[in-house]
Amino acid sequence: MTRIAVIPGDGTGPEVVAEALKVLEAAAGRFDLELEFTHYELGGERYLRTGEVLPEAVLDELRLADAVLFGAIGHPDVKPGVLERGIILRLRHELGQYLNLRPIKLHPGVTSPLRDVRPEDVDMVVVRENTEGLYTGGGGFAHYGTPQEVATELSVNTRFAIERCVRFAFDLAAGRPRRTITLCGKSNVLVHGHDLWDRVFREVAAEYPGVTAGYANVDALCLWMVESPQRYDVIVTDNMFGDIVTDLGAAIQGGLGIAAGANLNPEGVSMFEPIGGTAPDFVGTGTINPLAAIGAAGLLLTHSGEPEAGAAVEAAVARVAGRLPSLRAGEMGAATAEVGGMVAAAVAGGGAG
Ligand code: IPM
Ligand code: MG
Repeated sequence: MTRIAVIPGDGTGPEVVAEALKVLEAAAGRFDLELEFTHYELGGERYLRTGEVLPEAVLDELRLADAVLFGAIGHPDVKPGVLERGIILRLRHELGQYLNLRPIKLHPGVTSPLRDVRPEDVDMVVVRENTEGLYTGGGGFAHYGTPQEVATELSVNTRFAIERCVRFAFDLAAGRPRRTITLCGKSNVLVHGHDLWDRVFREVAAEYPGVTAGYANVDALCLWMVESPQRYDVIVTDNMFGDIVTDLGAAIQGGLGIAAGANLNPEGVSMFEPIGGTAPDFVGTGTINPLAAIGAAGLLLTHSGEPEAGAAVEAAVARVAGRLPSLRAGEMGAATAEVGGMVAAAVAGGGAG
């Protein structure tokens, strides 16, 4: 029995999560899995109604789940940061999800905005440190609201967190065909935090002679991801750069409509999400792409001890993606529920759906 906590959230979150659940049911049928779903209402509506962001009682229940499936959080009537910090980032921190794994793959038949790239050119995974850097909330204001106002944001980098992230990334790279890893940093400017990343990366690299280890500054990496994405296999990076380069990665794989991510706590409760957010313009139109949420459900299966079911979901997502004219919301030539249905059928039947 796998107990899955479901947080559909705001915006188009509920619409894409509904399709992911459809596909999980199909996978359960085909692979004889017992999945139990418990829904939690978190997000803007609850906050506006009750003032609650993430009640302790909910957090306590989530700690007992086997995995969390997450939609999106953010509300036009709520000040930016309240829900994002209070729900997503708090969950990542409280549940100890210290890795954010984001596969970037161009599936056959999908159009990338990059001219002339082939599917074999875009197949990488970003391992993003998920608890530190600029995301701890450190920093503050002085002389608030005056002309002399000062605002600081603190980047926290601990050897412990860097090392567990870098080790995970090397293990991942060692198991992939190309066995290549790139540290994405900015050690020419951020001479403290990123110097530490550099040193830890080199130390760990020495233990993996079979893995080719390289370094790129984040700005150059963005350029090369566009000009020659085939350079990259596993990329390991800090929280902020990971946030940025994975949106760029999503673009080159066809869009946020297919970009899924896993917030992993290898020893605890992990959370799986489409990385695209609430897409306010598309709420209720039935045209948002559910493939990212479905891909997240596939990652959930893979990381919950059901790799065969996870691989079947991934393969079905790839096949359906290749048949759509575009992965962008409103341009798929099919409705959200139809796309979910196609993937579910492919998973249930083991065929193309
Ligand atoms: C992401 C998102 C989040 C982040 C936001 C919503 C807090 O952009 O998961 O990439 O910055 O991590
Ligand atoms: Mg982001």
